[in-house]
Amino acid sequence: MLSLPAPDSLTHIMSSQPSADALTPAEIASLQQQAAAVAHHAYAPYSNFRVGAALLLTDGTIVTGCNVENASYRLTTCAEQTAITSAVALRGPGIRIRAIAVANLNATASQPCGACRQTIYEFSTPDTIVFFPAEAGSIAHATIAELLPAAFLL
Ligand code: THU
Repeated sequence: MLSLPAPDSLTHIMSSQPSADALTPAEIASLQQQAAAVAHHAYAPYSNFRVGAALLLTDGTIVTGCNVENASYRLTTCAEQTAITSAVALRGPGIRIRAIAVANLNATASQPCGACRQTIYEFSTPDTIVFFPAEAGSIAHATIAELLPAAFLL
């Protein structure tokens, strides 16, 4: 299981200050722990890369998800997308993500993929913050706008 660093080891990978300053260290640690916990449910027999995501919605609800792979590889669903799909099913189309933590069980740095960034963006606010595993077991964070500065919009 991914070892969770103390919240003071958080690294901000972008230039601006974190905008989730209303999140307490305990809330951040809890979100990280729930992301790591749900990664144990991942169905990843092809990549063996088990990922978990925990969303903190603006209404306070926490929703988790894991990656679900398929023998037809391109049908794989990422952990972030599973969590967001579940959140919409649970709370409806008006959900907004306050923060999302992503974890993997491979103890390696991993940022959300491009498709997940676009999916997160769809349900984000300008302040939505993303926590993800970085080098040497640390946790990095950035806003979704920093991770996806040119999101597709209709
Ligand atoms: N994966 C995620 O769940 N989230 C990401 O942001 C990146 C990749 C999964 C998909 C696949 O099951 C495995 O990681 C390897 O790519």
